[in-house]
Amino acid sequence: MPQPTWFLDETTSLGRENTDPEHVAHYDEKEDAGAAAEIVTLGQLLPATTADVVDLGAGTGQFALLAAERWENVTAVDPSPVMLDHLRQKATAAGSSLYIVEDGYLTYERASESVDLAYSRFALHHLPDFWKAIALARIRRMLRPGGILRLWDVVYHFPLNEAIERIEHWCSTGYSAMEGGWTRADLEEHVRDEHSTFTWLLEPMMGEAGFVIEDAQYDDDGIFAKYILRAV
Ligand SMILES: C[S@@+](CC[C@H](N)C(=O)[O-])C[C@H]1O[C@@H](n2cnc3c(N)ncnc32)[C@H](O)[C@@H]1O
Repeated sequence: MPQPTWFLDETTSLGRENTDPEHVAHYDEKEDAGAAAEIVTLGQLLPATTADVVDLGAGTGQFALLAAERWENVTAVDPSPVMLDHLRQKATAAGSSLYIVEDGYLTYERASESVDLAYSRFALHHLPDFWKAIALARIRRMLRPGGILRLWDVVYHFPLNEAIERIEHWCSTGYSAMEGGWTRADLEEHVRDEHSTFTWLLEPMMGEAGFVIEDAQYDDDGIFAKYILRAV
């Protein structure tokens, strides 16, 4: 069935910087996704090397490329052709067995209950809240019962009446363009143009989609959250 005309176009909602070749070329210098530690944590939950793993919003593939060394069936999914060109070059250089698919949360198709681990880091905030819920339900359907969603993103967890001060504080932590790293302008763009939301909006969506929160970690500034979700 063709998509209805009201359906979100993930090829145009994927974030300005993710189609900017200059940004993508320097992404790995700017952002350390902590992939080695993630593989250790998730490897303890999913020891079998035969596990089926999907990284949604894989970007330059810091996690997906390492995951493909740990598990046999790893797929990197992302709607940005610029990100994926970069990732393909890295995968070829590394001789990686990683599968790479140009798609998004709302369009990537997998057989029901075929995936053991869905991974998604710093990508779900590209969807407005209605679509986040749809995406979570789609991920739940592709996971086997007991399967895991590792979700890590900018998710606000400060008191609502402190929002202006907390966001201003976060933006003030941006680096200058000379220093490298995320700049104040990058952080402002995130808040203004993307769709990070509050824990008290996102977490009920997880339950509605058929997940239980097995672990949740929050940073001290009220900006980042990291979850282990179990498909029930
Ligand atoms: C900040 S990067 C994160 C990349 C990687 N996960 C990491 O942690 O380094 C955000 C990624 O989300 C992707 N993205 C944006 N909209 C998406 C969607 N609807 N479905 C899946 N990925 C999306 C972007 O193309 C981009 O590669």
